[in-house]
Amino acid sequence: MSQTIVIFGASGDLTSRKLIPALYQLFRKGRFDAPPRIVGFSRSPFSHDEWRDKLAATTAQFAGEKFDAATWDEFAKHIYYHAGDVGKRDDFQSLSQFLDGIEGNDSSDDDNNDGRLYYLSMAPRFYKSAIEHLGQSGLAEEGHCCRRIIIEKPFGTDLASSRELNRQIHKVFNEHQVYRIDHYLGKETVQNLMVLRFANTIFEPIWNRNYIDHVQITVAEEVEVGSRAGYYDSAGVIRDMIQNHLLQLLMVTAMEAPVRYEADSIRNEKVKVLQAIEPLDAKQVQADTFRGQYRGYTASEGVEPTSRTATFAGVKLSIDNWRWQGVPFYLRSGKGMSCRTTQIVIQFHAPPHKLFEDSPSDLGESNRLVIQVQPAEGIQIHFQTKVPDAGMKMRQTDLGFNYQKEFRGSMPEAYERLLLDALEGDASLFARADEVEAAWQICDPILDAWQSSDRPTLFMYDPGFWGPDECREWMLEQGREWFDTCPVLG
Ligand SMILES: NC(=O)c1ccc[n+]([C@@H]2O[C@H](COP(=O)([O-])OP(=O)(O)OC[C@H]3O[C@@H](n4cnc5c(N)ncnc54)[C@H](OP(=O)(O)O)[C@@H]3O)[C@@H](O)[C@H]2O)c1
Repeated sequence: MSQTIVIFGASGDLTSRKLIPALYQLFRKGRFDAPPRIVGFSRSPFSHDEWRDKLAATTAQFAGEKFDAATWDEFAKHIYYHAGDVGKRDDFQSLSQFLDGIEGNDSSDDDNNDGRLYYLSMAPRFYKSAIEHLGQSGLAEEGHCCRRIIIEKPFGTDLASSRELNRQIHKVFNEHQVYRIDHYLGKETVQNLMVLRFANTIFEPIWNRNYIDHVQITVAEEVEVGSRAGYYDSAGVIRDMIQNHLLQLLMVTAMEAPVRYEADSIRNEKVKVLQAIEPLDAKQVQADTFRGQYRGYTASEGVEPTSRTATFAGVKLSIDNWRWQGVPFYLRSGKGMSCRTTQIVIQFHAPPHKLFEDSPSDLGESNRLVIQVQPAEGIQIHFQTKVPDAGMKMRQTDLGFNYQKEFRGSMPEAYERLLLDALEGDASLFARADEVEAAWQICDPILDAWQSSDRPTLFMYDPGFWGPDECREWMLEQGREWFDTCPVLG
């Protein structure tokens, strides 16, 4: 069966920076049984060749040394462009005819054999009309084969808007046709977290409240807000990072083993984690969340000089179930941080009995499992070791696994895996409607309390460090410490 991918928002940044390079890499590596046709749709007028030339230049730039002109020429034979406006129904009729034409379909035959994957790579304000027009023009109807749709993040701005978006989608597409993307799930290291937990026997017995003191999940960005200021100032860190990427990492860390490695089994277990998190009330938001803004943020172009938007958040959540009762999950994300790193730290309890004078008594010296999601993808186990020739003196040492050293070569882009899975109809690494809504259910009370008159203080921090000092002190008061270590690259 051959397939067609239609990218709405074809002339945009995501298409040229991520989607086309990912499809090119899949083609270069021979991952397609039959290479899909790729049809770009946006208002800018391009001929097929003009769009191919534009994409050749950007793909060469983003693929670097992996770009090969001869391979590109073969790949480009599958690329087409059709100009149109998602706000105009007629443009979907002409798109439909165009697709039938390149797929070689008889327009009198409703039961097309070719699968189609629609990718909404455009601002969320266009989703509604794009979905409606796909429905009205018959482009969403499944005949012999599939009609699937990928929806980019952000998926709503709160619970009400995400519910409304799900309602609009479900008027046209059934849930099994919908692929909500969070590119974090396409990362090898996030999938490896499931392998670490469920393909090994040594971790599962200790993966619970009896051995684990707390879990830290950090997504730190070294960059400041840059050219995304306009969007970011209305979104802030909770919508930009916590609601999607950090809660996804939390779900994969905390979920029970699914019965099968299959989309709904996995997503059922993930949703149960979010359902076990009692949303914070206003008092808890005061006590258990942290707001920060880096100094200089309000001077960025596109940001209101009086903006109180948080560029840093620390959030403490409890998962009220048998496994995790009493084990806090600390989520932290910020811009203008010390380095770019995404890491999950499983902090184990201190030993119950201090046998050696030098035995670890504080948590910082106790066992720790660090999962480096990016960059320097890998895993380290920290443990105490006797220093030779120094009596019973001890030092924390580590056993390390590094993806690049072990498997050589660079890691594939998350979009490669996700696009291939969507073409193959595997939704395991995509968010389901109830999952997205459950995530907003946790974030909405925080966003509301942060807007209210008795919101928590907005602490200022200097770029280049680990966020507000007060957040460090807040952890110390709880007898815990952030693991503030930048990964070692290379
Ligand atoms: N860029 C990223 O790295 C990134 C990362 C994660 C998520 N996302 C998400 O991906 C989506 C796309 O982001 P982007 O950065 O690629 O945006 P962008 O660069 O602003 O591109 C928007 C695209 O939409 C098209 N468009 C606008 N109005 C249209 C209309 N009425 N009909 C048809 N096409 C229309 C534009 O083309 P014309 O003007 O030619 O019509 C352009 O191709 C957004 O939802 C964003 O949040 C982006």
